[in-house]
Amino acid sequence: MSEQVNNSKSQTGATAREVCIHIARELSTLVKHTLGPNGLDNMLVDTAGDSVITNDGATIIKQSAIDHAVAKVIMQVAKTQEEQCYDGTTSSLILTGEMMEQAAGLLKNKIHPTKIALGFQIAALKAEEMLLDMGTEADEEMLNLVAQTAMTGKSAEADKEHLADICVEVAMAADIEDINIVQRPNGKVMESTAIAGLLIDGEKLDHVMPDAVENPKIGLIAADIDIPDYAQQLNVQLNDNSGVKDFIDSRNAQLVEIGERLVATGLNVLFCSRELHPAIIEHLASNNVYAVRRVRRSDMEALANATEGRIVMNIDTFSSKDLGSAGLLEEVNIGERPMIKITGTPNESTVSVLVRAPTHHVVEEIKRAFDDAIGVVSIANEDQSVVPGGGAPYMQLSTKLKEYAATVGGREQMAVEAFANALEVIPKTLAANSGLDPIDAMIALRKAHSAEDGWKYGVNVNDGTASNMLAEKVVEPKRVVAQAIRSAADISAQLIRIELITTAKALSEIGDDDFQF
Ligand SMILES: Nc1ncnc2c1ncn2[C@@H]1O[C@H](COP(=O)(O)OP(=O)(O)O)[C@@H](O)[C@H]1O
Ligand SMILES: [Mg+2]
Repeated sequence: MSEQVNNSKSQTGATAREVCIHIARELSTLVKHTLGPNGLDNMLVDTAGDSVITNDGATIIKQSAIDHAVAKVIMQVAKTQEEQCYDGTTSSLILTGEMMEQAAGLLKNKIHPTKIALGFQIAALKAEEMLLDMGTEADEEMLNLVAQTAMTGKSAEADKEHLADICVEVAMAADIEDINIVQRPNGKVMESTAIAGLLIDGEKLDHVMPDAVENPKIGLIAADIDIPDYAQQLNVQLNDNSGVKDFIDSRNAQLVEIGERLVATGLNVLFCSRELHPAIIEHLASNNVYAVRRVRRSDMEALANATEGRIVMNIDTFSSKDLGSAGLLEEVNIGERPMIKITGTPNESTVSVLVRAPTHHVVEEIKRAFDDAIGVVSIANEDQSVVPGGGAPYMQLSTKLKEYAATVGGREQMAVEAFANALEVIPKTLAANSGLDPIDAMIALRKAHSAEDGWKYGVNVNDGTASNMLAEKVVEPKRVVAQAIRSAADISAQLIRIELITTAKALSEIGDDDFQF
């Protein structure tokens, strides 16, 4: 990167703004070619030679070598997008880059940064208001299309209709926190299915433990179940055999005591996220307790959520009050290996999706695609609102904002127009990434958007024409578009108003009242 964005110096006025524009541009360039169904991937190689191939905007930026405070600020845009919407991270970064690009043009025309920031804020508010009237209701069919659009271009694509059906079924039945996705290879994608209740990848620790437990009382422990480390590390000097025996006996007694204490809470099922001592496993087995170890943290959380049990970190404080419950726990065989199925849980909306695929690698990829798809379908369902994809809403907002700009007047008018131009970057990039002429595509789109139902029209990535995206089955949640525009606008307005970039004391050491403590 050029010398002007060196972290070690202060930058003022025009230079500070140039740095911000430069970095926003660099970040956008890094991800731009990955946008859309025909986007290409990035191969990231680190200094150790390790590499990863991805087209995920957030991953690319996170792993990139750009290390500047301004880059970190812009990264927040992608982070917010991911957290709020599960999708649209690439779009949000491209939009930020283009807004800064447009701001650069305004600065060159001697428009004051404050006016630009104000114009962008006016435009963003207006866009948000215009978005309220745009789009269509998220009925079951639309939700299905949202899921299918989310899986386009990924390994899930071949079976996206089946997977989309599952997505909609569970998203309509449960909140996203109550949906658990488990994967198991050695199967066909078409065998993927939704199951009421909770599925956990794991099996009992000892074959003498029961295969099923009715009305299980479930303990959830996130600690090693063993004699404490310090007791094992004692250096004991013994001078005869009876001493050795006494020592071993006392250790065993301690282990049995832990086992007894666990059983005394009334549990008959135990999930432990760490290790269990073999003597304790034996004790639990002889008391008919079903026990599992090395349970993943996410599974522990799902168990707590479904069974209304409490995850305990310290076995000394573990009591019957912490136990979760259910109707039935059973081991079921899936793909030649067991899995634990828990039904009749107090949290009745608990549902699991079992993702199947032939190999480990494919099942991982499909699970990731499915995770995103569930996310976007859930928010579309929550907001009850979807918009056509292919850049349609950006084009519509751009068209309407240009009409609105004429009513604003003054210097801000130019900023509103620049903002409207920036929104066109999404359809333009979708066209360019599909090997189409972006200028022709934009001409076709502009024409379509001047008509009454223009808002439905986006880039047809096969031939560059303007197509009704709802008919093309390309649909996304409105929140993805709204959030991308809002974050990009906020951050751009902030960056433009920066007059000085300088090294500061650790900001965390400065209190709210600006006094250092
Ligand atoms: N079949 C399609 N035709 C046209 N545009 C599409 C199609 N599928 C997806 N898109 C568009 O691609 C964009 C999303 O691309 P993606 O690479 O997932 O980036 P992001 O990280 O921003 O979600 C959206 O604007 C979406 O409408
Ligand atoms: Mg996407």
